[in-house]
Amino acid sequence: MKKVILGMIGLSLLGGAAVTMASPEQDRLDTIKYFQTKYPNVKIEDYVYGSLAFDQDTMDQYNAIMEFPPFESEVEKGKKMWDTPFKNGKTYASCMPNGGKNIAGNYPYFDDKAGKVVTFQDALNACRVANGEQAYNNGDMKTMGLLQAYARTLSDGMLSNVKVEGAGALAAYDDGKKTFYSRKGQLNFACATCHVQNAGTRLRSELISPVIGHTVHWPVFRAGDNLFTIHRRYVGCVKSVRGISPKEGDVSWNNLEYFHSYMSNGLPLKASVFRK
Ligand code: HEC
Repeated sequence: MKKVILGMIGLSLLGGAAVTMASPEQDRLDTIKYFQTKYPNVKIEDYVYGSLAFDQDTMDQYNAIMEFPPFESEVEKGKKMWDTPFKNGKTYASCMPNGGKNIAGNYPYFDDKAGKVVTFQDALNACRVANGEQAYNNGDMKTMGLLQAYARTLSDGMLSNVKVEGAGALAAYDDGKKTFYSRKGQLNFACATCHVQNAGTRLRSELISPVIGHTVHWPVFRAGDNLFTIHRRYVGCVKSVRGISPKEGDVSWNNLEYFHSYMSNGLPLKASVFRK
């Protein structure tokens, strides 16, 4: 019996990639190969569109909506937040690297001194705190969500360029990878059950997106102007399998985002897009 269970776990881990200590780059290449073999007609670049890559009708709908996005005024609110100086007269642009332009693809990164993963939203909050403002709550879409909805557009077109170097970084990456492949909730699903093994198939009425391309297009606006950061999506997916989720901004979500973003390395960023 033990053998059977172990065998099943092995199968669920992309041919065992997650149990051996493969390098992040090997993980990424193995995952791409898995999708290329399974869906030879879908280009890897098209996975930035998530499940739309598998369905021309919703892709057409996406293109039509993105011509005149119904959430443009929301992104504008984020721009106002970005442009408004802190009480000390400094701005996000004066605090973030390169004035905030073409940088989001370098996040998350591992900060050796602090011994932890720093996400783009952490960097925005660090900027606030360094300038005497209070950090925003990572789960608050009206503040941190809107700010990111604009700030990340300043990196549109940049290629995801996440680095995992050194023992601390690798440990955080492995923790994120473990979260992705661990089964949770009453339904006993892992992220990978849906977004690797079942990507491109339908679950109830929903076509499931692949892990490749998952992290490059955040935040999204769903059904008009309902803003979701990637952490809000993580929380939603865990709840959908009746699991208990950590809050947005939690260390385990940061580590997951680190692993998750590495899988999209080389793909172009585009923030604030439409999703169903
Ligand atoms: C029961 C299946 C299931 C599980 C388990 C699951 N998800 Fe999802 N997820 C979905 C569905 C369905 C959607 C909406 C359709 C889509 O875009 O894939 C979705 C959407 C997403 C998206 C948005 C994709 C996009 O392009 O907008 C991300 C990112 C995501 N999930 C990540 C995760 C992560 C990380 C986990 C594990 C913590 C997870 N999901 C667990 C089913 C699942």
